[in-house]
Amino acid sequence: MAAEKIWKLALAGFGSVGRGLVELLHENRGRLEGRFGFRAQVCLIASRSHGTALMPSGLSLGEVLRTFAETGRLGTACKAEDTRAPFEELLARSGAEVLIEATPTNLNGGEPGLSHIRCALEHGLHVVTSNKAPIALAYDELNRLARERGVRLLFEGTVQGGTPLLAMAREGLAGCAIEGVQGILNASTNYVLTEMEKGRTYEDACAEARSAGVLEEDPTLDVEGWDAAVKLVILAHALFDANMRVEDVDREGITRVTPEMIRDAKERGERIKLLAELKREGSALRASVRPMSLPLSNPIAALDGTENIVTLYADPLGPVTLRGSGGGGRETAQGILADLLSIARYAQCETRETRG
Ligand code: HSE
Repeated sequence: MAAEKIWKLALAGFGSVGRGLVELLHENRGRLEGRFGFRAQVCLIASRSHGTALMPSGLSLGEVLRTFAETGRLGTACKAEDTRAPFEELLARSGAEVLIEATPTNLNGGEPGLSHIRCALEHGLHVVTSNKAPIALAYDELNRLARERGVRLLFEGTVQGGTPLLAMAREGLAGCAIEGVQGILNASTNYVLTEMEKGRTYEDACAEARSAGVLEEDPTLDVEGWDAAVKLVILAHALFDANMRVEDVDREGITRVTPEMIRDAKERGERIKLLAELKREGSALRASVRPMSLPLSNPIAALDGTENIVTLYADPLGPVTLRGSGGGGRETAQGILADLLSIARYAQCETRETRG
């Protein structure tokens, strides 16, 4: 397929997800162009911890990755301009058409991601994000803004890492009525529970989840069930058009799960899992996250390590289950990449329609 266009991208955040995306764009550029007709230039990378790299004609991604590996910074060997300029100014100078927002989730107000996304949408940029907070806290506002400006706001990487739950619901299950959701949405707590079953302590298991790159910067988000609750809120918006808030989720994390409880469950032929559920009750949608002891016959109980599993109850199909990676830098970056390709595909269709 011939590439017709070069997409200009700006990236906010250069943690494991941002770096993962740059790696995927760099390593796979031949396949992305040859198979998907997708060519991209990253014109801006802005990171609070690692500096800023700005080049409107496109950064050399190989150089960015090399420089980062050697110095832990973005802005030394690559052409860095004024790193102190406000994000809005950097974004405008970059000439980007798509903002990729990959800063960490901050449930206390959603910043800086929320302002980044607002700014990009107001200026008519498409937005792809893996940052859960802005979507969970301000979905209605951001979605309205995107519609008003005629751009897309996609967030596959926010739920189940790069495993395409949202795309499956949006595209593959288009026309179905989604009646409910049940699954394991948090990778790190599933990892911790799995390791505790092997006799590891809670603390050791948490430390390992951090090195696997799935624990949030603030681990209480994971172990107290906030992360799974936020993902349920995102699903409530995306799949049910329900205006749910994080406080509406009946939430309990894994901090009160003891090795004895895990052992007792094992003796009963069960496993303790942090179960996330959305259920219709009359006209209401109820959300809960809580540790549940599940029989081994339940496929959710079979899940080990950092995978996620989600069953969507979709009329007329019945249960449709998607199991796969639930986090990690490159895996989540794959969700961002899929969203970018979706934007490029839609734009191509629109161009064809306009040309008539
Ligand atoms: N902390 C999250 C988890 C990362 O453990 O699932 C992926 O969203």
